[in-house]
Amino acid sequence: MQSTIITHQMPTLHYGLGDLAPQISEETMRYHYGKHLATYIDNLNALILGTKFEMMPLEEIVRRAEGAIFNNAAQAWNHIFYFATLAPNPKSTPTGVLGGAINREFGSFESLRTLLLQAGTAIFGSGWVWLCKDKHSRLSIVPTQGADNPMCDGLTPLLTLDVWEHAYYIDFRNRRAEALAAAWERIDWRIVEERFR
Ligand SMILES: [Fe+2]
Repeated sequence: MQSTIITHQMPTLHYGLGDLAPQISEETMRYHYGKHLATYIDNLNALILGTKFEMMPLEEIVRRAEGAIFNNAAQAWNHIFYFATLAPNPKSTPTGVLGGAINREFGSFESLRTLLLQAGTAIFGSGWVWLCKDKHSRLSIVPTQGADNPMCDGLTPLLTLDVWEHAYYIDFRNRRAEALAAAWERIDWRIVEERFR
């Protein structure tokens, strides 16, 4: 049987690089999407050649790899997921089954916002803050370090915010809490609701 090497590709954004401003500037997007994500994908494609990972889909690499291949694969996956969560005209609050689950788990949508932004702000060094569901559809806020992804612990990510300095230093310098609060405004809850189903 002929095996096919997978060359991982940059995701197509469903918005323009300047369309998330003023919360996330075009300059940040040019570096974050155009350089940081592109580098992770380029590194991954180079690192997997000649290994058992060269024919695996990205998610499978994230679940199975370690070291540099894991770091670049997970950073690629995390960024693709993050950029796909944002929108120029987002649905600003969740409704339906997700809205009900948030109220049950966190008391209110505002309480989820406060807790998730606090968890992201408190991460020491680089990482991500996630809203996840478990196999019983229970929600949780999960802070992770470096490239780590809650998929590796059996959780399903519903949304993430990037807590690496490269995500906000152009626009917010060292003001991480403000940067996360701004990015929160760009989360499209229509997309998060679809992931919760
Ligand atoms: Fe990033």
